[in-house]
Amino acid sequence: MHKQLLVAFASVLVASAIVVAQSDEIGSVEDYDATMKEVRTTFGALNSAMDARDGDTVLSGTAKLVEIFEQVEAFWATRNVPAAAAIATEAAAAANEIRAALEAQAFQEIAPARDALAATCQSCHDEYRERVDGDTRIKAGVL
Ligand code: HEC
Repeated sequence: MHKQLLVAFASVLVASAIVVAQSDEIGSVEDYDATMKEVRTTFGALNSAMDARDGDTVLSGTAKLVEIFEQVEAFWATRNVPAAAAIATEAAAAANEIRAALEAQAFQEIAPARDALAATCQSCHDEYRERVDGDTRIKAGVL
């Protein structure tokens, strides 16, 4: 038990170090696009880790998503789109809930929090993303 806690603690430290290294702001729509690709990769890895019951990777993945969605929130807030910023806040909160559920060993709460997180992707994309020639971008007129 103690050893497990130590391992969990160590992985949180590693996750925090990764987060600090990446805490740059999203300064342009190109950065935003790159950030979303990172979200896709991280969310995919998180889902696989959940299925595999790989707690360390779930903890580091959720920490990373919290950090990224805080940057996404700032991106929209500084560009005066508060409704989009609010969805990003929800996404960060849902990622945090996954982490908290795992730490509390409340395993039955993990899947609902994951679904809540996935729902934020969907609702923000419906509202603010458009597909043009097979590519996606921020909807025209939003910024
Ligand atoms: C607050 C709004 C918001 C949230 C929340 C959000 N996205 Fe996005 N996402 C966007 C917008 C706007 C675009 C279009 C920008 C672009 O493609 O350049 C986008 C684009 C993307 C892309 C396409 C990138 C590319 O060009 O290939 C992926 C993949 C993506 N999002 C994944 C996710 C996933 C997975 C989640 C949830 C875990 C998520 N997003 C949550 C707003 C959001």
